[in-house]
Amino acid sequence: MSDYSYASAEKSAAAIRAKAGSRSPVVGIILGSGLGGLADKIEDAVRIPYGEVPGFPEPKALGHAGTLICGTLAGKQVVAMAGRFHIYEGHAPALAAFPVRVMHVLGVRTLFVSNAAGGVNERYHAGDLMIIADHLNLMFTNPLIGPQQPGEERFTDMSSAYDDKLRGLLRNAANAISVQIHEGVYAALLGPSYETPAEVRMLRTLGADAIGMSTVPEVLVARALGMRVAGISAITNAASGVSPLPVSHSEVLDVGRQVASTFEAIVTDFVSRLD
Ligand code: HPA
Repeated sequence: MSDYSYASAEKSAAAIRAKAGSRSPVVGIILGSGLGGLADKIEDAVRIPYGEVPGFPEPKALGHAGTLICGTLAGKQVVAMAGRFHIYEGHAPALAAFPVRVMHVLGVRTLFVSNAAGGVNERYHAGDLMIIADHLNLMFTNPLIGPQQPGEERFTDMSSAYDDKLRGLLRNAANAISVQIHEGVYAALLGPSYETPAEVRMLRTLGADAIGMSTVPEVLVARALGMRVAGISAITNAASGVSPLPVSHSEVLDVGRQVASTFEAIVTDFVSRLD
């Protein structure tokens, strides 16, 4: 399959339904680096390796398992992705967002996204969590480029991409377990190199609180399809120059795993609060 159109997504969804049965997930969950543990909390799960989903390549990034999980979380039908497709792997922007089209075909109308991110805001520390309030698309590409897909807006409104009400539910979920959570702006860069200190200073000036290399493509397609979106960044490290330490992928994964149980508790509670 060479295109990432809605018609291709229908074929992928048919293959998923053939394996997972007649489930209708209402919530889609994309798990970022080091955060894949939530996938083990999904009950009555059918786990499908990406290699068995038409249109999905095998993911290559460390810390990304590459499994689609259909099951229930907090009593709701969900479909979760442990592992995502990054543009830095050489994938087209439309492939990075393709799973969202597949989720939409399956019935998903609420998307929860997550990622590991560097802290640009000097008040953020490794191990903190941030509700994504808004984003900066500094990838300077867009998965919506190309023929307009059925059901998608051509000129997608991004004025409230991260749903106000869902952000409130995430705040409530964090409060319920007495976890302090930030709310800020996620800036997406292409990667795969980390930033220079000068770039991080620039990003701060531009209004970024956290930086990463994912999420924005998926959110753009979700919004074009009219889905509600919410997201959390796990701050896995101080961004380049914020601390004297170099940024390393193994630290990103380690800290992701350290915050995993708090992250999982918040996301599970959030899903239980969804209407
Ligand atoms: N920069 C970009 N992406 C990241 C970082 C970072 O510091 N940490 C985790 N993902």
